[in-house]
Amino acid sequence: MNYETYKNGVEKLNTYAYHYYVLDNPITTDEVYDKLYHEVLEYEQENPSSILENSPTQRVGDMVLEGFSKANHKSRMWSLEDVFNADDLSKWLTRVYKFDEDVSFYCEPKYDGASLNLIYENGRLAQAITRGDGVEGEDITQNAKTIKSIPLTIDYKESIEIRGEVVIFKSEFERINSDRLRNGENLFANPRNAAAGSLRQLDSSITASRNLVFLPYGIGENSLDISHLSQRMEFIYSLGFKIPPHRGVCEGFEAIEAIYEEMKESRDGYEMMLDGMVVKVDQIDSQENMGYTVKYPRWAVAYKFPAVEKITTLKDIILQVGRSGVITPVAIVEPTNIDGVVVERATLHNFDEIQRKDIRINDQVIILRSGDVIPKIIKVLTHERKGSEKELKRPTKCPVCGSELLDEGALIKCQNLTCKARVVNSIIYFASKQCLNIDGLGEKIVKALFEAGVVASVEDIFSLTLEKLLALEGFKEKKSQNLLDSIENIKGCDCWRFINALGIEHIGEVASKSLCSVFGLSFVDASKEQLIAIDGIGEEMAEAVLEFVRVNREHIVRLQNVLNPKIPSPKAEVKENPFKGKSVVLTGSMSRPRDEIKKMLETLGAKLVGSVSKKTDMVIYGEDAGSKYDKAIELGVKTLTEDEMRGLLDE
Ligand code: IVH
Repeated sequence: MNYETYKNGVEKLNTYAYHYYVLDNPITTDEVYDKLYHEVLEYEQENPSSILENSPTQRVGDMVLEGFSKANHKSRMWSLEDVFNADDLSKWLTRVYKFDEDVSFYCEPKYDGASLNLIYENGRLAQAITRGDGVEGEDITQNAKTIKSIPLTIDYKESIEIRGEVVIFKSEFERINSDRLRNGENLFANPRNAAAGSLRQLDSSITASRNLVFLPYGIGENSLDISHLSQRMEFIYSLGFKIPPHRGVCEGFEAIEAIYEEMKESRDGYEMMLDGMVVKVDQIDSQENMGYTVKYPRWAVAYKFPAVEKITTLKDIILQVGRSGVITPVAIVEPTNIDGVVVERATLHNFDEIQRKDIRINDQVIILRSGDVIPKIIKVLTHERKGSEKELKRPTKCPVCGSELLDEGALIKCQNLTCKARVVNSIIYFASKQCLNIDGLGEKIVKALFEAGVVASVEDIFSLTLEKLLALEGFKEKKSQNLLDSIENIKGCDCWRFINALGIEHIGEVASKSLCSVFGLSFVDASKEQLIAIDGIGEEMAEAVLEFVRVNREHIVRLQNVLNPKIPSPKAEVKENPFKGKSVVLTGSMSRPRDEIKKMLETLGAKLVGSVSKKTDMVIYGEDAGSKYDKAIELGVKTLTEDEMRGLLDE
């Protein structure tokens, strides 16, 4: 590599990263990116004096600071006045119109994270300062440089302050917390705390590992000659910053209300947490005319969404035994309406977490529910205790079968393979939609069959007879025959369904499909190295497969003999077509049953996935498509109606 190719490499990497992190629309594979990144890194190690400041290698946090130094914002960072309902919004509008009757409004999300001021001088990121008291904050420049959606250089040479919110996407928040749970670390209460905590790490490699995202919302000191805020923001987005998932310019109360309703309806589907919509006067000269109170600009207001955190009472903690024997404590709370959904249960993760948070029955607690965030208890209001609170002892006996439990610290397990809960839950899982999809073998029937003593293991369902079923209460001829037929029908099932139904820890639908397409049924003979070599299978998953096979080989063979799963024909046989090799999501109601369309697309070589991400190639939607469709639009994923899909097929 010479300097020219190096420079070119840096530029290419930045373009790839911009498409990936800012536009959510990757234009290359991880492999290509990594290869080029390493070539660039190698050149820099040999030529340290030529390192370009916008090289992506400069984002890698390897600085450990003693503390942060204080720094002044060039112009003050203001707060926002909150309004909670249409009445308050209308009163605010009356005040605005007193200053200027002809204003329009720029509406954008109010992100729930930590605010950050980026100072660009001469086209380069010179300083990143936390909000602090609005006048002075902390210099966290090194950490900000690890955030991939913050450009290190911009194509604008004047000095400018770009303000925005640093957030953690909901999925990333769940990932961080589940890692922390596994490592016995304290959990973050919500994505906002996780973002703020990650931003203020003295070791910037920790910040780098958290996948923070910067969303611009405003401009501080600047010399822009642009008359409207909305146009100023478009200019900022064009410099390489992320665009809000929803924004709009409008006039008047009703138009603001309409955007507010749209944003509120879609909030669960957005990747980041929003706690409201910010309404800002669009004309800069009117903004200047209105000015500020002691705390807020008069030209902006935060129109809050219904809260996603509520205080309630913890009434009880029940213990659930899963199919792998893990005992999960679940909080039963006083039913509470959170943003339109009545929450009665919340996850408590595990017993270490209960002890760490000192959660007691009868405690007043704060619970969080938002979209993909699983309802959880995030705080105990210990100052509200009245003396009637009861501590929960770590269980030593299985609540279902009574056998001694194995206490491994974070996890407590029932080891009794014949424990009713374990058996019943494994059969329910085996028969469930994502596994063998046995019609008529749902939770209620499985429990009844188990109670009656006719089914004590997964294998027993294949020895059911009409006679045995008719002897049970509530089983008439038709229902019994239907059940037997559905069981018969799963013979010759897809091999991946069979693997998925075994219930191997960490192996879900996607991994089962990979195992099946690489090994077919001989996955039982695969070595650890062979397993890890598969895309998407890591060490923990490989070990789970090996351990499962070690203990259950005979059971797998017996089931295989009854089920006779079918091995997919090699992919090469699929003819070229617009769906081959594509990752596809189906949503909304279609003219044909969903499974039928799914099967057809799979036959064409498409990979059907459940949720929309930037890796999705297309979303095919029917009537009443909801958040998946919105997400596709938000991420710029191609969308097709069912008719358009058929049109493509006809072509
Ligand atoms: S504008 C001059 N816009 O909310 C107005 N703030 O409650 C200053 N925030 O400190 C703020 N999204 O951290 C603005 N679209 C948005 C925002 C936003 C989130 C945060 C920001 C600010 C706080 C005020």
